[in-house]
Amino acid sequence: MNPDGGPAESSIVVCPDGPLIIRGSFEIVTPSGDAVPRDRQTVALCRCGASAIKPYCDGSHKMVRFRSGPPAA
Ligand code: FES
Repeated sequence: MNPDGGPAESSIVVCPDGPLIIRGSFEIVTPSGDAVPRDRQTVALCRCGASAIKPYCDGSHKMVRFRSGPPAA
C-alpha cells in the first residue's frame, strides 16, 4: 500500500542473506540512465556483490555465505 493509502504499484522484499525481490511496475537504469533490459515482472537484484549477472542475483550469495545482518529498526 502506498503512503497515501492507495494500492502499491510495486513492492520490494528484502530477503534475509539474499537479494532484493522487486515486483510490479518499475524500471531499472544504469548510473548513466540507460535502461537495463528485463523480461520479467518480478526480478531479484543482487546485494552481495558476487553475482556474475549483476544487477541480477544468480544465487552466488549462498556460495559466498552473504550475511545481511539484522534488519534496521
Ligand atoms: S544477492 Fe544473490 S548473488 Fe548477490
